[in-house]
Amino acid sequence: MELKHLIIGLAIAFISYIVVGQKSKTGVQEPPALRTRIPIIGHIIGIAIHGLRYFGKACDGSDEPIVTIDFLVSKVYLVNKSSAVAQVQRNAKVITFDPFLDSAAERMVNVSPKGLKLLTGKENGGGDLNRKIVKAMHPALLGPGLDIANRNMVNNLVKSVDELAFMHNKTFDLYAWAKHAITIASTDAVWGPQNPIKDPANEAAFWDFDSHLRLLVFKIFPSLIARKAYLGREKIVAAFVKYYNEGGQHQASELAQARWKVQHDGGAATEDIARMETATVLGVVSNTTPSSFWMLYDIYSRPSLLATLRDEVRTNALKKLPSGEMIIDLAAMRDHCPMLLATFQEVLRIRSNSAPTRFVTDDVVLADKYLLKKGRVLLMPGMNMNNEPSIWGDDASTFDPTRFKKETLKQRPTSFMSFGASPSLCPGRHFASGEILGMAAMMMLRYDIVPEGGEWVLPKFWKGAVAASMPFPAKPFSVTVEVRDEFADTRWAYESTDGKGKFPLITG
Ligand code: HEM
Repeated sequence: MELKHLIIGLAIAFISYIVVGQKSKTGVQEPPALRTRIPIIGHIIGIAIHGLRYFGKACDGSDEPIVTIDFLVSKVYLVNKSSAVAQVQRNAKVITFDPFLDSAAERMVNVSPKGLKLLTGKENGGGDLNRKIVKAMHPALLGPGLDIANRNMVNNLVKSVDELAFMHNKTFDLYAWAKHAITIASTDAVWGPQNPIKDPANEAAFWDFDSHLRLLVFKIFPSLIARKAYLGREKIVAAFVKYYNEGGQHQASELAQARWKVQHDGGAATEDIARMETATVLGVVSNTTPSSFWMLYDIYSRPSLLATLRDEVRTNALKKLPSGEMIIDLAAMRDHCPMLLATFQEVLRIRSNSAPTRFVTDDVVLADKYLLKKGRVLLMPGMNMNNEPSIWGDDASTFDPTRFKKETLKQRPTSFMSFGASPSLCPGRHFASGEILGMAAMMMLRYDIVPEGGEWVLPKFWKGAVAASMPFPAKPFSVTVEVRDEFADTRWAYESTDGKGKFPLITG
């Protein structure tokens, strides 16, 4: 046999392997492979160009509920339709989020081997700490702890919104402002008076870590290849070690105390707890920050929506104290500002890059048809389900701030992926909602915002951050703000009512 025929033969065998997939003994097959215009490396190039959004873009035009992306060394399943989300959820025992937590502990924050053993599940001979930590966070974010966290959070938020009154005629980066405001309000609420992230050097180090995480996770000479992220991370780890040694956790929120207690009682070393806490800062701020930016962008760039929302908040969630102080009532905002709540969810629907990740821990067949093989990763890109016309209507790709209003919602949408999918749904969603909506409400009433050049132009996205499911601008987003005459020279505060911190959000 000539060499060229051998090569052709091998190529045909290889291509059929990709196109047809592997037949299992039962006749069912892995989901159909997504082909790219550039064979073999097309998907890798796609990810390099589009970042997380590629997982959504890759499925454009495909009617398959679930597809396979072949990276040669491994395959990844992409869920493309909400019908397949339901199938994945039905098999949550074998298509699970848990190994992702172990992998994040190892790759993002470099927990020691002993610490990793404690974190991993009992079924792998571990101490099951990861599951216990997430469980311990629930009462703090979904129960009574939420009220205290909210009260602390809004006290800091108002300080940042106040500062804008002194920015008359000054151009500044709106995203950088939102980033700082949310970082301080959230981390102070969680880690209390000794919050290490309050130190500006640590705040900057944290964002170096967050924004350049993409290369760090490969763990290949990280101090050289992912230097910014590596140095940022190690600085935060050292700051948390100091925090614990000085007992900062004992004056912190229920969330921080519960996390510390579970790990400490479970035998984890202080440095490993500090590493896990560094990852938690990502969870606490990395999505809330860009979401708050998009909330401002999507409202202020639509003058009639801005006017409607101003009226709604002014009428239903604002009160004036006899002292003249203006109060925004978060509970009233939740209960009586349906348009604001609907706008927020539409912002999340349109802007989210979320791709909830699951690991297939055993061979499983979905819908009697698709074989998912043990050891593979499965992603559920929000872009697919959040834009599915059968769920959202033919105008799914357009921004409609009324879409989530109860009166206009034709059916309760399933598979809204922006806060993930049960049973691993984001437990921080109510805390984040209070913060983002509270900020947007006060900003709208107090300030006008004008982007540099006068036009709201969609910014290009930064692709180096992989922890956040919401994208953020790659370059400064320059604006000026002016105090509105209606509320010039007034003092402002927020009010949050115990037991009313949970928002009626649509979830997947
Ligand atoms: C707008 C802001 C936020 C967005 C868009 C968001 C989004 C998400 C998404 C997409 C997931 C993945 C869920 C899945 O895989 O099914 C997630 C998980 C999680 N989020 Fe959030 N998140 C936000 C804010 C927060 C905040 C403020 C906290 C903490 C205070 C938080 C804590 C968590 C935790 C602990 C998980 C893991 C849940 C588990 O393992 O069961 N998130 N979030």
